[in-house]
Amino acid sequence: MSRSIQIFPDVAAIAQHAAAIFTSAAEQAVRDRGVFRVAMAGGSTPKALHALLVAEPFRAQLPFEKMQLFFGDERHVPPDHAESNFRMVSETFVSKTPIKPEQVFRIKAELQDAERAALDYEQTLKTQFALKPGELPRFDLMLLGMGNEGHTLSLFPGTTALRDNGRLVVRTWVGKLFTERITCTAPVANNSAAVLFMIAGADKAPALKAVLEGPCEPDQLPSQLIQPANGKLFFLVDSAAGGMLSNKF
Ligand code: 6PG
Repeated sequence: MSRSIQIFPDVAAIAQHAAAIFTSAAEQAVRDRGVFRVAMAGGSTPKALHALLVAEPFRAQLPFEKMQLFFGDERHVPPDHAESNFRMVSETFVSKTPIKPEQVFRIKAELQDAERAALDYEQTLKTQFALKPGELPRFDLMLLGMGNEGHTLSLFPGTTALRDNGRLVVRTWVGKLFTERITCTAPVANNSAAVLFMIAGADKAPALKAVLEGPCEPDQLPSQLIQPANGKLFFLVDSAAGGMLSNKF
């Protein structure tokens, strides 16, 4: 694993660098295998990246017709719900590109039984990546954010999702939000060719310092689970989120 931590003045600067990494990963994957498989992130930070990718100069460089979009996690809501990660990615990215619906593999979070949604997505990954039993999908790039308590994907502190290493996708009860989520597990993230965290805001500073510089306590700080064994790990943070880091990078 190669890890790089870079501090930028603001989210716009993070997005610029993330767009360069995204584009480079896409070009490389298409050169190597004719397809770019990316796991999109939820939350709000990715929106700045999406806005850059659908505009020049990045738009012209992206092989949209050879992209397959997946989701690292999803809220347990229908795809048209305001909280839906699929809806956010569709509105801010997919709808502004030539990407066709059949290139987008969403988590069917409208299913009342979140476990069924998780099993269904697990099957989607197995099919799309042509996995043999026990194999993990290898995303060319997984985009991630981090919550102010160190969660990533929907891997929240102290939840059963942190230990479901036999699974690719699980449902998880998130008590603090009083809601269920569906999420890829850490082994899936860790099999990616590249994982890119985009983290912004002073409220994230204590957790980011703990994740990067504190003791290894992944049950408290699930972002510490993300260590792609044969992949690149990028932390792109703004100066507010990185303000407590002792090593100035
Ligand atoms: C989600 C994400 C989650 C997100 C972080 C950061 O579904 O909400 O998967 O892990 O990346 O909560 O969110 P922001 O980018 O909004 O700070």
